[in-house]
Amino acid sequence: MSDHVPVGGVPPIDDYGSLLAGRVAVVTGGGDGIGGAVSRLFAAHGAHVEVAEIDEARGEQVLADIGAAGGSARLQVVDVRDPDDVERLRARVLDHWGRVDVLVNNVGDYRPLVRFHLSSPESWQAMYDVNLHHMLLVTRAMLPAMIDGGGGSIVNVHSVEGMRGFPGEPVYAAMKAAAAHFTTSLAAGYGRFGIRANGIGPDLTQTPQVDYLTGFEDHEHLWEAWVPVGRVGRPEDQARVALFLASDLSSFVTGANIPVDGGTLAGSGWFYSPQAGRFINRPTGL
Ligand SMILES: NC(=O)c1ccc[n+]([C@@H]2O[C@H](COP(=O)([O-])OP(=O)(O)OC[C@H]3O[C@@H](n4cnc5c(N)ncnc54)[C@H](O)[C@@H]3O)[C@@H](O)[C@H]2O)c1
Repeated sequence: MSDHVPVGGVPPIDDYGSLLAGRVAVVTGGGDGIGGAVSRLFAAHGAHVEVAEIDEARGEQVLADIGAAGGSARLQVVDVRDPDDVERLRARVLDHWGRVDVLVNNVGDYRPLVRFHLSSPESWQAMYDVNLHHMLLVTRAMLPAMIDGGGGSIVNVHSVEGMRGFPGEPVYAAMKAAAAHFTTSLAAGYGRFGIRANGIGPDLTQTPQVDYLTGFEDHEHLWEAWVPVGRVGRPEDQARVALFLASDLSSFVTGANIPVDGGTLAGSGWFYSPQAGRFINRPTGL
């Protein structure tokens, strides 16, 4: 007999308070997916959100959502892989606000997924550009203002694939692991300036980039075996952890990389088998 307790959707939290009141927060890729949820949640907590987004339509949509909810946000249409765009972003944020309190480096992509024996220096470069290079560019651009302002919080979104072996794309995994270690090292180096740096390692989160549900609508029961908490992740699940890390709730937390994965990293290859009625680590189902 299965001992699975279906968890359902994201549990409602009615009143968080106003954890980022008056703070200036830059969110890269803040127009959709995890970044979109971060932008909306931060604005709901009183932050002035600077949405740094390559896709104007996505950026406009999140701005409309935030405006309708009474929040404050501006859109900067930028490609954060481009140093000139990052410099433009830095100038636009600092000319307007004179400071930056929170930076969420969220942009990243596993596509195109290239098998390593078929990969090339060009495909490695592309993986670097979209998963690590922009993190260095944007962080370097914002850090001096955080130092001058007496502190800040940096939240880097990498991946659970940077925290475990990822057989499908070792180059992507290496970039994500580098992002996690960049985060840890940044924390060690800049804590004395009042700057905290922490990372989030998502897995299994339904976004435009990673669609776990289309074609899988009739397979609700399979989530029981797939992920310890028994459901797909939602961008809001990631955004809540980003809010914790960005806000003073985590004032003594720095250098941490938190898997936000419903327990897949903790499970590490163990799956619940309803047939066997226990956890297994064999592909037989028994
Ligand atoms: N969704 C998951 O399950 C999952 C799992 C592991 C890691 N991640 C990581 O989480 C982060 C967000 O993933 P997601 O699934 O929400 O992605 P997504 O592709 O759905 O959303 C990314 C957003 O960033 C924007 N963007 C892309 N490139 C950009 C650029 N160069 N400059 C500015 N904006 C850009 C996109 O337009 C989009 O709005 C990424 O770093 C990703 O690697 C996600």
